[in-house]
Amino acid sequence: MTRLFRIIGRCLLPSLLISGGLMAQPLFTQHEEDQPKDYLTAYFHAGRRQALRESMPANSVAVIFAYPTRTFSNDVSYIYHQNPDLYYFSGYKEPHALLLVFSKQQEDSAGNRFDEVLFVQKKNAQMEQWTGKRLGVEGVKSKLGFTTVYNGEDFPKLGIDFSKFDKILMDPFPIDIPDSKWDKADLYELVQYFKTKTGAPDDLSKDKRFDTKTYRKLTAQLREIKTPEELDLLRKAVEISCQGQNEVMKAVHPDMSELEIQGLHEFVHKKYGAEHVGYGSIIGAGENGCILHYETNTKTRVGNDIILMDVGAEYHGYTADVTRTIPAGGKFSEEQRAVYQLVYDAQEAAFKTLKHGSKWADAEMAARKVITEGLVKLGVAKDENEANKYYPHGLGHHIGLDVHDRGTYDKLKKNMVITIEPGIYIPEGSNCDKKWWSIAVRIEDDLLITEKGYELLSHFAPRKIEDIERLIRENSALDDFRLPPLESGKKKGF
Ligand code: GLY
Ligand code: MN
Ligand code: MN
Repeated sequence: MTRLFRIIGRCLLPSLLISGGLMAQPLFTQHEEDQPKDYLTAYFHAGRRQALRESMPANSVAVIFAYPTRTFSNDVSYIYHQNPDLYYFSGYKEPHALLLVFSKQQEDSAGNRFDEVLFVQKKNAQMEQWTGKRLGVEGVKSKLGFTTVYNGEDFPKLGIDFSKFDKILMDPFPIDIPDSKWDKADLYELVQYFKTKTGAPDDLSKDKRFDTKTYRKLTAQLREIKTPEELDLLRKAVEISCQGQNEVMKAVHPDMSELEIQGLHEFVHKKYGAEHVGYGSIIGAGENGCILHYETNTKTRVGNDIILMDVGAEYHGYTADVTRTIPAGGKFSEEQRAVYQLVYDAQEAAFKTLKHGSKWADAEMAARKVITEGLVKLGVAKDENEANKYYPHGLGHHIGLDVHDRGTYDKLKKNMVITIEPGIYIPEGSNCDKKWWSIAVRIEDDLLITEKGYELLSHFAPRKIEDIERLIRENSALDDFRLPPLESGKKKGF
């Protein structure tokens, strides 16, 4: 932001001063009719706050700070991503905010009653020209349906007496909060004031009044069960991600780079209106697939490797998490096929255990058994203990506003949405025949738990070997998409 303020300092402020500060400020309007129509409603967020309130212990307050902004490079911030809890309970997407939800009605000195209050960043026409429109207090009232809303700078003035609550439910403080010298009511100040007012230690576990465990439990219990509105968005995110996988399967060939494949996925996501990816896209060809969260995607030619593609579209805040592993040349080799089939069978074994009331551990054990016994049978591992090394992660997790979404991870319940994602990774140098080296397979699907079983939300992208190979044989609209060679690379041969 430094350059921004230098420019404001040198150019805009003088003109304001010259005009005595009366210069009309332009309105930076975002026209509603140009915007998506299927965001979560104010009614949804209000319902979530009410559900939280009803589950809170007597005489308590829940404290939810926005996530900090983060520097990407000089004068440039990372695209802002709201704290999913704050978004879930408010719909507010801007930084520098604080939500308080009270277990029972409060009354201010003027006799106004309220059981929740949202502090937001103040409207500022100059800043809005640079970084986009802010809702401000009035916008939050009219669009998000809150009645008690203040600018952050009013937090101290409101004089909330936190000492009267038996419990303050909250997450640990956000870390590394930048302190803008230009904004005296940014997140840094909100947190500082809260600390001063409550005497909260940096490490909240040192003071019994602050209860992070109950906060986590209550928010997990709410967020792990998806409402119909959330399911609509998740279904869409998952279907979009599958269409990304399908388009890549049709277009893939050995001359492509990992980055190009990433671009195809993300282009399809955006074409369908998904704003972000829910995590860095993982496109790992051959050995790179053995790095579980490989995100650099810099291999310039995928060749005839199998490519592990773990990519999730984030649609209106809700992210999918779908992995397909495909042969770039169109056909799995014998060894790749054998490993792939084991992962597929493990996934199927896990699927069979899923239903309302079943345990995560049942699915975990079913999948692991197939993989470890199978790897021993193939001769990749000499015993099941060694085989475990080739499957070094858990079976799955909830998805939602976080890719690894909040959950209690005990029993499965209907309307949870989870991933089932067994994998086998055999890096170079492994203690087995070389023919197995650099084979990495993960198959990851997203499932809705139902009363009697599950619904495979990610059925749109093929999982079976023959279905994948068939789709790769199909033509792609991109087959004829050619860009001219770059002049700038010619001399040096790249
Ligand atoms: N994409 C991260 C994971 O599968 O958990
Ligand atoms: Mn996952
Ligand atoms: Mn994944």
